[in-house]
Amino acid sequence: MIQTRREFIFQMIGSGILVFPMLSACTSSLENDYNRIPLEKPDKWDPIAYNRIRGNAGAIPPAYLPDINGPDGVTKHLGKHLPYIAMIDPSLVPDRYIPLMWGDPAKGHTRHPNALPDTSNNYQGHWYNWIRIRKAVSRWSETAESAYSNWPVVNPSDRGLYSVYGEGDIMADKGINTVYLAACPPNVRQGDTLRIWAHCLTHGEYIDFITL
Ligand SMILES: [Fe+2]
Repeated sequence: MIQTRREFIFQMIGSGILVFPMLSACTSSLENDYNRIPLEKPDKWDPIAYNRIRGNAGAIPPAYLPDINGPDGVTKHLGKHLPYIAMIDPSLVPDRYIPLMWGDPAKGHTRHPNALPDTSNNYQGHWYNWIRIRKAVSRWSETAESAYSNWPVVNPSDRGLYSVYGEGDIMADKGINTVYLAACPPNVRQGDTLRIWAHCLTHGEYIDFITL
């Protein structure tokens, strides 16, 4: 019977269980800890490479992995899930919110569609159901989280809001004109870099940095 934590550790060493974590610490590989998310934007930040590694480690559902690892993985799948600032009328954006879209066509990425849920055939729909934003600084900094419990209309208890690029119908063109109005933490200023951590209901979590 194991009496103490020390005895427990010794027993694991004896059984070889600790070998794997020791190896993973040596390689410091993202594959072994996809929750190790950078606080600051790394010097040579490559959101495609980062999200592909993190996705294969568990942040992206297994059913989508062949797509992100396939020949169109960058433009049509990984790139499609990276955020950019939507150039909409600033009067449509509440204070302490930023307008986000996913899949920047200026980078050759496919724009992210959005789709209604359909309870009659168990289809959960397709949209970003949460967005977490913090200043990309090494010290502690508040995270603002916006929820989107439905599309194309949020529920009153959600902090997130929607707008439309081009001010047309939000459901037109498979929902690609949807703008996510996402809450920002306090004291965000022009020139700040933000870390955007967001979750597509269907395709998993993605992380990127945006400088305002
Ligand atoms: Fe998606």
